[in-house]
Amino acid sequence: MEAHALVARLMERELQFPFMALLISGGHNLLILAQGLGQYIQLGTSIDDAIGEAYDKTAKWLGLDMRRSGGPAIEELAREGDAESIKFSIPMKQHKDCNFSYAGLKTQVRLAIESRNINAEIPISCASSQDRRSRADIAASFQRVAVLHLEERCERAIEWALKIEPSIKHLVVSGGVASNQYVRARLDQVVKKNSLQLVCPPPSLCTDNGVMVAWTGIEHFRVGRFDPPPPAVESEDFVYDLRPRWPLGEEYAEGRSEARSLRKARIHPSLTSIIQASLQQQH
Ligand code: KG4
Repeated sequence: MEAHALVARLMERELQFPFMALLISGGHNLLILAQGLGQYIQLGTSIDDAIGEAYDKTAKWLGLDMRRSGGPAIEELAREGDAESIKFSIPMKQHKDCNFSYAGLKTQVRLAIESRNINAEIPISCASSQDRRSRADIAASFQRVAVLHLEERCERAIEWALKIEPSIKHLVVSGGVASNQYVRARLDQVVKKNSLQLVCPPPSLCTDNGVMVAWTGIEHFRVGRFDPPPPAVESEDFVYDLRPRWPLGEEYAEGRSEARSLRKARIHPSLTSIIQASLQQQH
């Protein structure tokens, strides 16, 4: 997730800290304030499904061609539909924080599909024009609300971030879903309203984890943050410390969600706190 945020600096050399980043992919939604390299404050995160997962499931249930993943298929079909035709409710309206939830919207979409007797077994290419229209309306209505949720969270996150770092100029939007033109256009409006600038890495970089991670390695290497290489011959009982889930930064106090903290008790310290501890040791 750090690499998703930093890759923007590979193409936009002018992008200086502090900046904000919205990371939207198949597995994560994350809003962070990047104060420096390795210094992140988490403003919001997903409490259940990520937006990309919601795009993928909606596409599958609508019988779309999943060869390029569900997101691009929904984006394309949504252009034919009426985004106002189905009134899905915006997730977490009553929670005045920056966390994300897409599980409920997924259920709303599934129920809408079932009530219209859409058969996912019939691929969209074989659907009657009325059936196609009905699927397009669902795709467009889903996309509108899925992105409205992003817009609301970004609005609030910008407010919070400007309180912490008034000099912020940029919001980076990265991750697979950031290649969506509708998402970009809507977020561009939110950002402009707050006199900020949107930075979107090109789709080729948004999806190439190899490039992203390599670039993040270079960023840390340049400031002298690296471990010595492993021994050429490792002893057989050498143990790696694997941490499958660990936060990027500490949670912003105002955004702390009770429900989430209870569910996902933090076992591991954040990347930011590890880097800070090692910096203190050096001094
Ligand atoms: O960041 P990413 O490549 O990797 C993982 O999360 O593993 O994101 C993949 C996600 C998928 O859910 C895919 O449907 C979504 O990004 N995605 C899109 C678009 N292109 C990819 N979602 C909406 N619109 C798109 N154009």
